[in-house]
Amino acid sequence: MTINPTWLTELDTPYLLIDETRLKQNIGYLKQRVEARGSRLRPHLKTLRTLAAADYLLDSKTSPATVSTLAEAEAYAEAGYTDLLYAVGIAPSKLSRVAKLRQQGINLHILLDNLEQANAVISYADKQQQTFSVFIEIDSDGHRGGIEPADPRLIDIARKLGVHFNGLMTHAGGSYGCTTDLALREFAATECNAVLKAKQQLNKAGIKCPKTSVGSTPTAHFGEDFNGISEVRAGVYTTFDLVMKNIGVCDFKDIAMSVVTTVIGYNQEKNWVLVDSGWMALSRDRGTANQQQDFGYGQVCTIAGEPLTDIYVSSTSQEHGIIELPGHAELKDFPVGLKLRIFPNHACATAAMHQGYHVLMSDGSHNTWERIQGW
Ligand SMILES: Cc1ncc(COP(=O)(O)O)c(C=O)c1O
Repeated sequence: MTINPTWLTELDTPYLLIDETRLKQNIGYLKQRVEARGSRLRPHLKTLRTLAAADYLLDSKTSPATVSTLAEAEAYAEAGYTDLLYAVGIAPSKLSRVAKLRQQGINLHILLDNLEQANAVISYADKQQQTFSVFIEIDSDGHRGGIEPADPRLIDIARKLGVHFNGLMTHAGGSYGCTTDLALREFAATECNAVLKAKQQLNKAGIKCPKTSVGSTPTAHFGEDFNGISEVRAGVYTTFDLVMKNIGVCDFKDIAMSVVTTVIGYNQEKNWVLVDSGWMALSRDRGTANQQQDFGYGQVCTIAGEPLTDIYVSSTSQEHGIIELPGHAELKDFPVGLKLRIFPNHACATAAMHQGYHVLMSDGSHNTWERIQGW
């Protein structure tokens, strides 16, 4: 059922719109999928970064969650959430903020992948008589950071951390490059095998590894078996986006985020429609540029959320979006003042351009959510 209440067209544009019905479906689907395959979700809260969305993503204040900044950790801790993984390598200068939250009873876990970081943690812990919970990042796909599962330095790092060592984690960001279901299933298996192999190495050396954490939105949706994996992380699945559609993880009908925009004019000679959403509203992200379908700066939809075939935001300046109409579309169908929705390439990047969101509740009513800012 398409709900299209009048308030959608009455708010000043551009604004970021969240569709609650789709959000709930996306969240519910992945939770049951992961649990049915032997693990549990530790949702990444970074896509929407709002206290309101955490309520949908987490069953209780003690449910595991992932954050990408200490600002988020502080805000969620203040709201009562107690089990947070800060999933970006720890900078020694940030240990005092981590310690402060841990002293408040927050089980804030940190991440590292080298001996220098481990030394900094131990030196702080010894000086301040502070216990930490540390995950070591494993590189499962050569995509970013982490230490390879068979690297002997893994044992040195875990030994150095001693009682502060709590587990292994990996993030198969390289899965974004997959285009077939088979490749996604294989990538998900590789991600799990990497941490299980690393755990085996530690166990052989007599080191216990209480937790194993894997995940990205594509691998969480295609993994067939999560037995032996303590938790699966995913974030962008909350709203999905065009990058995920191209990978084959979702369809248009699942995308729960759009930017609402207004037609403000034309370039008649070129058959261009101008809208009031430039990169300040959509972000500079061109994540679909090298995928099977390039959606420019976003897929144009009616205000009711129906995608318009082959109509994209072709280019942007700061506050202008240019829609180069294809041959089958006519300027007269886009009168000045018309409201449209634009699906984003990368939901995390587009959301970051907005201080807050408007939410289309399942019953058609209007809500607003404030975004947590900063680092
Ligand atoms: C460490 C880590 N875990 C999980 C995720 C979530 O992955 P996705 O964005 O595919 O949902 C990310 C995303 O960047 C991440 O960096």
